[in-house]
Amino acid sequence: MADRPTLTTTAGAPVSDNQNSRTAGERGPVLMDDYQLLEKLAHQNRERIPERVVHAKGWGAFGILKITGDISRYTKAKALQPGTETPLLLRFSTVAGELGAADAERDVRGFALKFYTSEGNWDLVGNNTPVFFVRDPLKFPDFIHTQKRHPRTNMRSTTAMWDFWSLSPESLHQVTILMSDRGLPVAPMYMNGYGSHTYSFWNDASERFWVKFHFKTQQGHKFYTNAEAEALIGKSRETYQEELFGGIERGEFPKWTVQVQIMTEAQADQTSYNPFDLTKVWPHGEFPPLEIGVMELNRNADNYFAEIEQAAFSPSNVVPGIGHSPDKMLQARVFSYADAHRYRLGTHYEALPVNQPKCPVHHYHKDGQMNFFGQKTGNVDAYYEPNSFSGAAEQPSAKEPPLKLLGDADRYNHRLGNDDYGQVTALFNLFDAGQRSRLFSNIAAAMDGVPGEIIERQLVHFQRVHPAYEAGVRAALKEAHGYEASAISQEEKGVAAE
Ligand code: NDP
Ligand code: HEM
Repeated sequence: MADRPTLTTTAGAPVSDNQNSRTAGERGPVLMDDYQLLEKLAHQNRERIPERVVHAKGWGAFGILKITGDISRYTKAKALQPGTETPLLLRFSTVAGELGAADAERDVRGFALKFYTSEGNWDLVGNNTPVFFVRDPLKFPDFIHTQKRHPRTNMRSTTAMWDFWSLSPESLHQVTILMSDRGLPVAPMYMNGYGSHTYSFWNDASERFWVKFHFKTQQGHKFYTNAEAEALIGKSRETYQEELFGGIERGEFPKWTVQVQIMTEAQADQTSYNPFDLTKVWPHGEFPPLEIGVMELNRNADNYFAEIEQAAFSPSNVVPGIGHSPDKMLQARVFSYADAHRYRLGTHYEALPVNQPKCPVHHYHKDGQMNFFGQKTGNVDAYYEPNSFSGAAEQPSAKEPPLKLLGDADRYNHRLGNDDYGQVTALFNLFDAGQRSRLFSNIAAAMDGVPGEIIERQLVHFQRVHPAYEAGVRAALKEAHGYEASAISQEEKGVAAE
């Protein structure tokens, strides 16, 4: 026993017996003064924190970003200068499933990055898809409700999903990717990551550029068919954790090539689509991806709860040289994540070791529950600002260039004047016969139990992408469920004119 550390109370005193409760006589009862028993039970009752409201099931690891290209003319961000290496945390996730969900479920995958840069944490909280289901943040909670459980049945509802999607044609691009092969990757290392939104770069001369981030898997794309995933889930629900954690333990370090697409402010006025619309990509032909570096995962967390579950990513975390954009979804996310963290983890979530920046931190926030770091102002007498006691002061060089805004404040109909079909057609045209056939059957499977009028409404959207899309899904529906077309009018389908 000599080489084992002494078990102590949380207050540091040695514990004499961790096997037997303190009782009145050999047969009991237990005495109220057995504080170690009470404390053990009380701690156990507090072991769970709220799971993330979305993206609850996740897998993560630490690694490094190495910059090999030169984009210094676009951004002054130190982490993006040639030759720079920045430590990072990457957490992957599924969106809809709860904490105990099976890993190999068809869903969009989260791709959340925290770069511990020398100028503060930069979080790029993306997905494995370049676009998203909605383009107005007012619709995000509604969309998520369709992915979660029905209030009465407490089961997930295919009707809710297709009802919402068929009434929201902006979802079609993301729905097509979700139902394609890339909607069910074999493991996190076999998929791309995308920043998805348009962000901005700004340089030393205070010039702004719009930017999209891409992380291309070097392991190649690998996916499961629905049938393979169903068989797999019967054997193991933790296949992503097994592959990611196991691979890194064996020294197999997954890598991604890092690319950016750059658009000037002048170009943004000339694109045929809104470059700040999260349901659109920037075609590579128009905005070629520039390779800027490589990202590698090479270290597992030692404690999943402390380092992955307590990780708090937020699109609000940017550093000088990187900024946001007019994307409406992005503004909502800038608010939403830090708010979620204060609820899920507490006021001082940024001070938890996994979230702590690896550079000096100075601020005037004060006190609050679980403040374990004291004062961060640089001087004990400086607990307000401005002050005469050498407390931390603002840094004007971190100021973003001004952003020109145009137009009256109003609620603009985001469904007017946006082509929801053209880019989906470009994607559909990339699919070979096998990919198309799996797309059709995946959609048919996901439509099980959906009322005919909702199916017909959705088929109109597929038809607008490509007649073969509609015909393929219709045939797959017939094969899977014996589905026959419902005789309902265009008006009854409730689809707006194209
Ligand atoms: P390109 O042919 O230049 O780009 C095609 C892109 O699509 C590549 O990045 C490729 O990713 C990806 N891709 C290829 N096959 C599939 C697939 N089966 N499922 C999903 N993605 C696939 O054309 P465009 O840039 O004009 O884009 C055409 C369509 O491709 C878009 O409408 C969009 O749906 C999709 N796409 C476009 C992206 C972009 O940023 N422009 C990014 C991802 C998808 P990879 O190199 O990894 O094979
Ligand atoms: C997680 C909100 C859109 C990617 C979350 C969480 C919230 C949220 C509240 C849980 C955070 C936590 O508890 O830690 C929103 C809102 C959105 C939106 C309000 C739109 C208005 C998006 C988009 C993407 C995305 C467009 C990707 C491009 C993620 C990822 C996570 C997440 C990856 C998990 C982060 C992690 O690993 O901890 N989102 N989200 N979300 N979201 Fe979103």
